[in-house]
Amino acid sequence: MTDPLPLPDDTAGTPGLTFSFLTLFPELLAPFAAEAIVGKARERGLLDVRLVNMRDFAGNRHHKVDDTPYGGGAGMVIRVDVAERALASLPAADEVILFSPAGQPFTQAVAEELAERRHLVFLCGRYEGFDARTEGLVTRELSIGDFVMMGGEAAAACVLEAVARLVPGVLGDPESHQADSFSSGLLDYPEYTRPPEWRGQSVPDVLRGGNHGAVAAWRRGQALARTLARRPDLLVSAPLTPADTVTLGELGATPEQLQEWGAPPPPRPKRRKRPRPADPDPPPGS
Ligand SMILES: C[S@@+](CC[C@H](N)C(=O)[O-])C[C@H]1O[C@@H](n2cnc3c(N)ncnc32)[C@H](O)[C@@H]1O
Repeated sequence: MTDPLPLPDDTAGTPGLTFSFLTLFPELLAPFAAEAIVGKARERGLLDVRLVNMRDFAGNRHHKVDDTPYGGGAGMVIRVDVAERALASLPAADEVILFSPAGQPFTQAVAEELAERRHLVFLCGRYEGFDARTEGLVTRELSIGDFVMMGGEAAAACVLEAVARLVPGVLGDPESHQADSFSSGLLDYPEYTRPPEWRGQSVPDVLRGGNHGAVAAWRRGQALARTLARRPDLLVSAPLTPADTVTLGELGATPEQLQEWGAPPPPRPKRRKRPRPADPDPPPGS
């Protein structure tokens, strides 16, 4: 079988994180591993990606990996012994993840956890999924949302994209993901670039004024406004500052909501210094 993802010749050093995909369609995943930032990170030796075709572990000359479900019903089920042999062919992993609509919802917090590991193995299902006994071979099951796809490869690609960018060195600017949606606990603020005027819409003046403090304050306000309007559920776990409490109040959040989100009290207004009474004039001749 041809390797859909030959390793780059010039890899350097031990990779920070290795992703191994067990799949029936390695060609679907190859571009995600070969192109763009992940492809560059592989060339730089920061990441490694292995594509394993489960058919190579079918154990029969027809490379058949599935069978009909016990109890009857539509579709085919991937055999547990095939999954077991494919897993055994890999070096030890920190996590073996099975993709399933019944899995734990995949979130940025899970991505951050996975980025700390050295070797992740992803089991991508097809047909009706894996024999239920496969669940005993994995450390967790992940779902990328409440919908059903035809296979786990797209889910695995999503997780690769989300985790790889958190591995140190993969993104040029290590701070670039810290303000991203969810990483900061809020949705990201809106971004603009040239042209400054487009079809009657201008870039906000504050972004062109060169005042870094004002830009930071504007961005924080925009992130709070977007989160309040689109995903107020996130505010419960977002780290909020006393200044955020003021902004959220100005944006229409009620005192009950602020309390539910654990918003800290607003900053106390600064007391204006009372002028000291002028010293009396020294007595004459002193
Ligand atoms: C057609 S689905 C199987 C659906 C399964 N019968 C069910 O209803 O839960 C085939 C495979 O696609 C993958 N898959 C589909 N939707 C997914 C989702 N939302 N998240 C993660 N994986 C998914 C899983 O690997 C699954 O084994």
